[in-house]
Amino acid sequence: MDAPVLDNARLERFVQRAMDDLAAGYGGVMVSLGHRLGLYKAMAGAGPLSAREVAQRAGCATRYVSEWLNSQAAAGYVDHHALSDTYELAPEQAMVLADESSPVFVPPAWNVPASMWADEPRTLQAFRTGQGVAWGEHDQRLACGVAAFYRNGYRASLVPQWLPALDGVVERLEHGIDVADIGCGHGHSTVLMAQAFPRSRFFGYDVHEDSIDQARRHAEAAGVADRVAFERASATQVPARGFGLVCFFDCLHDLGDPVAAARRAGEVLAEDGTVMLVEPYAKDRPEDNRDTVARLYYSASTTICCAHAISEGGQLVLGAQAGQKRLAEVFRQAGFAHFRRAAETPFNLILEARRRAP
Ligand SMILES: C[S@@+](CC[C@H](N)C(=O)[O-])C[C@H]1O[C@@H](n2cnc3c(N)ncnc32)[C@H](O)[C@@H]1O
Repeated sequence: MDAPVLDNARLERFVQRAMDDLAAGYGGVMVSLGHRLGLYKAMAGAGPLSAREVAQRAGCATRYVSEWLNSQAAAGYVDHHALSDTYELAPEQAMVLADESSPVFVPPAWNVPASMWADEPRTLQAFRTGQGVAWGEHDQRLACGVAAFYRNGYRASLVPQWLPALDGVVERLEHGIDVADIGCGHGHSTVLMAQAFPRSRFFGYDVHEDSIDQARRHAEAAGVADRVAFERASATQVPARGFGLVCFFDCLHDLGDPVAAARRAGEVLAEDGTVMLVEPYAKDRPEDNRDTVARLYYSASTTICCAHAISEGGQLVLGAQAGQKRLAEVFRQAGFAHFRRAAETPFNLILEARRRAP
């Protein structure tokens, strides 16, 4: 057989790309260290600092910090002023690396690939056997990483943009309704809604006991525990309460039987109730999902979302890049007559479903 003819320019570009990705993988460890050790916070708003000053502010050893700072400068994560040999975190870098309340705060999201690496033996086994891996079987950094990744986006968008994009829902929340947050995880979405709408009552359901405990702690800390209850329950066994709003935040595609979950949502909804479905942003055709966001989601979907859906029997394993058309079909099969896109962000589709067409 003839040796394949190599396009050397293409090879070089691809090797460069693979090296960039490898460096980014190493860089994730550096970001996590910078976050956990308070190095970014020590630099935020402080102007140019020597390595010694950064180390002193963060209470760390100078030699380690100076090497870390050079890793950050090489990555473009901090600026280095060569003449004064000082390092500076620009305001834009601080928003991404130091400000926990910023909608673009990234460091805790590195917990997700950390858990994916830790879980590699399970994933190898799953690929070979076809068996599932449940959400709660993963390294504990997964739940924290996912909750932190989505929390700031929810904080920026859920109350000011997504809920108002749903037909008539804000008025009903202001008046006072019962709301279900299915697959609530650490409950950040539930707590945000409870803070914004004190006349409504909120019920978070999840199968993962640790997440429910964490969600209860968040509600206590936010001072909304009087109107928020978290309970361990599967999406297909949510108790009937005549909910005015049923939410699925980034979880429908994780479920082993999304049609059954959507059907249950229809059963527990009030007559004029609304389902808010928040799913990872995706276009309908895989060939149109080829950007950075799709790359993140397909990777997480491979080891986490599909693996969990399979662990629950895998009637329909949607994956994290299902797209609106397939999600609409789930709700059609579950008996909903109305389904539309209410809003979108680079990371999320916000979809509205009702049992009857308006
Ligand atoms: C990707 S996380 C999303 C968590 C949260 N909604 C958020 O946006 O941060 C998916 C969640 O779905 C939960 N989950 C998985 N299967 C479930 C089921 N059958 N019923 C209820 N929750 C489930 C998991 O335990 C996990 O907390």
